[in-house]
Amino acid sequence: MQGVFYEDYGGPEVLRYGSLRTPEPHSGQVRIQVVASSVNPIDWRMRQGEMRYLLPGGFPRIPGFDVAGYLEEGGEPWGLARGARVMAFLDSVYGGAYAEWAVCSPHAVSPIPDSLSFEDAAALPLAGSTALQSLRDHGKLCLGDRVLINGASGAVGGYAVQIAKAYGAHVTGVASEGAEAHVRMLGADEFIDYERQNFSEADERWDLIFDAAGKSSFHEARRVLRPRGRFVSTEPSLRGALTSLATLTTSQRGRIMVARSRREDLGELIRLHTVDQLRITVDAILPLHEAPEAHRRSEKHQVRGKLVLRVGG
Ligand SMILES: NC(=O)c1ccc[n+]([C@@H]2O[C@H](COP(=O)([O-])OP(=O)(O)OC[C@H]3O[C@@H](n4cnc5c(N)ncnc54)[C@H](OP(=O)(O)O)[C@@H]3O)[C@@H](O)[C@H]2O)c1
Repeated sequence: MQGVFYEDYGGPEVLRYGSLRTPEPHSGQVRIQVVASSVNPIDWRMRQGEMRYLLPGGFPRIPGFDVAGYLEEGGEPWGLARGARVMAFLDSVYGGAYAEWAVCSPHAVSPIPDSLSFEDAAALPLAGSTALQSLRDHGKLCLGDRVLINGASGAVGGYAVQIAKAYGAHVTGVASEGAEAHVRMLGADEFIDYERQNFSEADERWDLIFDAAGKSSFHEARRVLRPRGRFVSTEPSLRGALTSLATLTTSQRGRIMVARSRREDLGELIRLHTVDQLRITVDAILPLHEAPEAHRRSEKHQVRGKLVLRVGG
């Protein structure tokens, strides 16, 4: 098969497009013929070697966790028909989405409706699951909560604004000045430009602060959390892990989340999209062999929403 891979850590130039061995599904896995994938910051953070001590080896490595395409076979016991249009949040720690074929557990796969294009579907799994799990599972979002989303113009933050609104929250979005119209269009009730105001110095108090950008911390944010407020960050750190432990039983809680691949969550994201409560923002669609350019743009924060890679089909 054709795909994008790297054989050592480095800049976007280490990504190569060429022939690779087609992955064989292990027992209990399914194989997907990939039509579209998308870029997430974890793809280039792994390529840079950020996780080299946690995930040694694994070369040649195919980046990417998001796929949309056709299910080959093996999903019948889970109600997934051969040839079905599906999307998946790949559950291998190494990824494997930037290629013509990908394998994963059937629990990572959800059928997609005909109304959803492969390109839009590929933009949803990892970032959408992160937003949903952060607010609902880690943040214990409740109807009527006042929620602040830091990084509201990004892929995760943009989904989070819309999910929080769909679940009945009052939402403050934080992003750069130029993103205000976009964040309000997604449904934010209030907007803070992080270059003008540090939200942790605001007079306001929030029930839930979701730091989708990973730029803040529980300790910075706690002053503006309500007495039973929750802080959730997407950025793993030792300090964040210690905070999670230290606040297990306190009234204000700080959590670091790691997104999990769950079919039911993909189903919930599709449901929200189908009832017009979750808009998918695709910044650009590039052919797969332009993955190095896609990584450059994502690393330079030149993307609003998602960069999709067109693979085949
Ligand atoms: N833990 C997990 O499982 C998990 C899962 C998914 C993502 N992540 C992490 O979550 C982060 C966001 O991912 P993404 O896909 O949403 O990336 P993205 O689309 O590139 O969005 C990044 C966002 O950060 C905002 N931002 C930059 N500097 C900021 C600052 N100082 N204060 C507030 N916001 C700031 C940007 O706003 P402007 O463009 O307006 O400047 C943009 O909205 C990445 O670090 C990623 O690695 C973690």
